[in-house]
Amino acid sequence: MLSKTVEASLNAQIEVEASSSQFYLAMASWAENEGMNGVATFLYRHSDEERDHMLKLIKYVNERGGHAEIPPLEKPPKKFSSLKAVFEQLFEHELEVTNQIHGVVDLCLQEKDYTTHNFMQWYVSEQIEEEALARTILDRLNLIGNDKGGLYLFDRDIENLAQNG
Ligand code: FEO
Repeated sequence: MLSKTVEASLNAQIEVEASSSQFYLAMASWAENEGMNGVATFLYRHSDEERDHMLKLIKYVNERGGHAEIPPLEKPPKKFSSLKAVFEQLFEHELEVTNQIHGVVDLCLQEKDYTTHNFMQWYVSEQIEEEALARTILDRLNLIGNDKGGLYLFDRDIENLAQNG
């Protein structure tokens, strides 16, 4: 059975994952409108993954005798100044998500909720991968700079980068 405080922190995490999904969906729609179909595909898929992260939390909370709450969502930005700005914001966002997850893990230890602590380890590992992937993408974009040919290849290859990253 979840304590009320752990339940509340998991519900807050549900909102974080839902907002991430919505944020990346907005980025995907922007990229698609800019003609960057590879980037859009990558971001649509990333948005779906965040929804899966949210669902996994919802199911866990309900299984453990809590009540998962479905949060309202803020409208994400419609426009982004550049492709690099998109991935900078994505990286910053993931760093915040990692902090939130570590906050939940801390609380689990304080409350001696070792079951939820164990469940949250999946998220801790996932964040290591997500941060590394965002860093790899940003490094590539820094190398490319404003080179149009480089950006074309980046858009074509980003899916492989995601698979190998
Ligand atoms: Fe669900 Fe990108 O963290």
